[in-house]
Amino acid sequence: MKHLLDAKEISREDAILILDTAAQMAATQEREIRKLPTLRGKTVVNLFFEDSTRTRISFEAAAKRLSADVINFSAKGSSVSKGESLKDTALTLQAMGADAVVVRHWASGAAERLATSGWIHGSVLNAGDGTHQHPTQALLDAFTIRKHLVGPPEGAGLDGLRVAIVGDILHSRVAGSNGYLLPTLGADVTVVAPPTLLPVGLGARDELEVFYTLDDALDAHDYDAIMMLRVQRERMTGGGAAFFPSPEEYTRLYGLDAARMARLPDHAIVMHPGPMNRGLEISAEAADSPRSVIVEQVANGVAVRMAALYLLLAGEEAAE
Ligand code: NCD
Repeated sequence: MKHLLDAKEISREDAILILDTAAQMAATQEREIRKLPTLRGKTVVNLFFEDSTRTRISFEAAAKRLSADVINFSAKGSSVSKGESLKDTALTLQAMGADAVVVRHWASGAAERLATSGWIHGSVLNAGDGTHQHPTQALLDAFTIRKHLVGPPEGAGLDGLRVAIVGDILHSRVAGSNGYLLPTLGADVTVVAPPTLLPVGLGARDELEVFYTLDDALDAHDYDAIMMLRVQRERMTGGGAAFFPSPEEYTRLYGLDAARMARLPDHAIVMHPGPMNRGLEISAEAADSPRSVIVEQVANGVAVRMAALYLLLAGEEAAE
């Protein structure tokens, strides 16, 4: 593996290797001294053209705990705001000797472009491109599900587990990645969304089952995990048309509240990639309940990104 761009391209074997490596990384984080010397002398650049809290901090913590040098580059306050292109930015990073570039960009396909352009020679890790892919988020979600629901997790996939992904599927790169990674790992995936927020063509994917209301989905199955997605209002700008009649209507049909949570099996976990719209797609009761693993997802993100950086950078020789 040289790059991590698209969950569709991750094999089951590689996914399990990343999850197992992440479990080892997580174990090192329980120690008094959490820093490992593994990536000493390597440079990781965080290139963020779009806002981020969790993902950027998580990649930064992961790289630092592996002793890499980290350069944070955000579009705001850089020459990108003066109109500098992705290409010129990439050439600058290459001149600085980046071994890995972690990129978040508003354009779907930007990470792939960076990886295949020849502008930079290092590994590219996609930290979210437009509405397309966010593979490390799907890996940390799979890690979290496996840790809670599969025992002993090492070496295992998610076979026989059923996961519901609920909400703004259309704009969600988290769903874009989980929609491939979770089935690759053997999970049954149910997608729940208003028809206006489902990508065209999703129905053609046999491995995904679709429901148009959350209550119908809850009637149909017992879920082991339910993943609520943020309603991405910042991406609902084109055309002036509304994607749903009102926030109240959305919450009524798709929101996870205490009553709907009570319909899940006792062992089921509640997930959300963050940032949450509390009161819209998820109630405070659901977000803060003992079943919620939302804060833990963030912690697991560091271990998963340590594993990804390690396998791409330190594991270079071993993997080839
Ligand atoms: C997600 C993203 O940016 O795609 N958040 C994240 O990475 N933690 C989901 C979202 O923005 O809703």
